[in-house]
Formats: sequence, structure tokens, C-alpha cells
Amino acid sequence: MSGEPDVVVRRADGDDLVAVVDIGRRTWPVTFGPIAGEDYVAMGLAKWWTQEATIPAIRQGRVSVAELGGEVVGMSSVGMNDHKLWMWKLYVLPEHQGAGVGGALMRAAVHKAAADGYDELWLSYLKGNDQAAAFYRHHGFTEVEEEHGGSGLPDSIVARRPITPEDATA
Ligand SMILES: CC(C)(COP(=O)(O)OP(=O)(O)OC[C@H]1O[C@@H](n2cnc3c(N)ncnc32)[C@H](O)[C@@H]1OP(=O)(O)O)[C@@H](O)C(=O)NCCC(=O)NCCS
Repeated sequence: MSGEPDVVVRRADGDDLVAVVDIGRRTWPVTFGPIAGEDYVAMGLAKWWTQEATIPAIRQGRVSVAELGGEVVGMSSVGMNDHKLWMWKLYVLPEHQGAGVGGALMRAAVHKAAADGYDELWLSYLKGNDQAAAFYRHHGFTEVEEEHGGSGLPDSIVARRPITPEDATA
């Protein structure tokens, strides 16, 4: 069950830029269209899934990619906000979901967070994204609070997971 044996997770570099942006552009409409609507999808793609928005994160070493058979099929990114480590993005191409790719990206992020000395990993997901909620619960996240989107934006759930020194060796 646990993980796809052929998944390779590595830090993204400039050559991954197009593939990383493509993952968002292919994953967002099917994930968020049904729960948040087309306008939200269009806003998110324009704001967060452009090359301009992605280049700094790759340069800062905050983006990881997952490869299956040499093809980039998933990505994650992390960053700091309010002195906390956040997983900003975690996306697997629709046709590769459920095969252990997201789990491999999550385990790699938790491992690195522990190795870097963090004691928590934070994230948020849209209310109604039940697949993500179940996945995060499975990976040890618990709900902290609900955030109201306001201005027509969907509500989201903030969750966190403790990071222990053992996570660095797991
Ligand atoms: C959510 C997402 C990242 C998960 O990645 P994935 O590759 O599909 O999930 P995996 O196949 O790696 O599953 C990993 C583990 O979670 C478990 N899992 C996955 N979905 C689950 C669910 N709905 N309920 C319970 N457990 C679940 C799997 O059993 C697996 O367990 P294991 O690693 O112990 O074997 C991916 O489905 C995705 O990109 N979804 C659309 C975009 C999205 O919602 N991203 C999150 C935005 S906040």
C-alpha cells in the first residue's frame, strides 16, 4: 500500500519550470472547479500558476518534484509565514493520483522539515476538498481552524502536523 516504488522525489530546478506550472494548470480545474467554481480556478491559475510566480520559489529551493519513469507527475512547495513552515502546494497530475506520488512528496517534505529542525508543518485546504482532507488526516494533520474566505472566496481549513526528530530518520 505504502507508496509507489518507482517514485523519485527531488528538489526542482529551472529545467522543471514548465512541468511544475503545467501540474497546476492541469490539476486545478478538475480539483477546484466543482467545489469553488471557474472564477476561483481562473484567479488561482493567474495568481499562483505562472512562470513568474514559480521562478522565485524554485530559485529559493522551496519546490520539490516527483518523477515517475522520468516524467514529472507531482510537485510540492513550502515556505515561511508568521515564523511557521507551510506547505503551500501539493499537487499530483489527475491521471497519477492514488498511486503513492502525493505520499512520497509528503514524506519527503516531513523528512526535510525534521532535518531542518522544524517542529510543525502547517497547511490549508479548501473546505469541501474531501480527498485532500482525508489524505492530510492520514498523514497526521489535525484541523486547527476554519478560515472564512470573504469576498466570494471559498472557506478553508487550516491544519498542522507535529514534526519530531524521528521524522528525520523515518
Ligand atoms: C491530495 C493528493 C496530493 C494526494 O496525492 P496522491 O498521490 O493522490 O495520494 P497517494 O496515492 O500518495 O496516497 C498517499 C496515502 O494517503 C492515503 N490516501 C490517499 N487518499 C486518501 C483518502 N481519500 N482517504 C484516506 N487515505 C487516503 C493512501 O492510502 C496512501 O497511504 P500510504 O502512503 O500509507 O499508502 C492528490 O490526490 C492531488 O493532487 N489531489 C488534487 C489536488 C489537491 O487537492 N491537492 C491538495 C490541495 S490543498
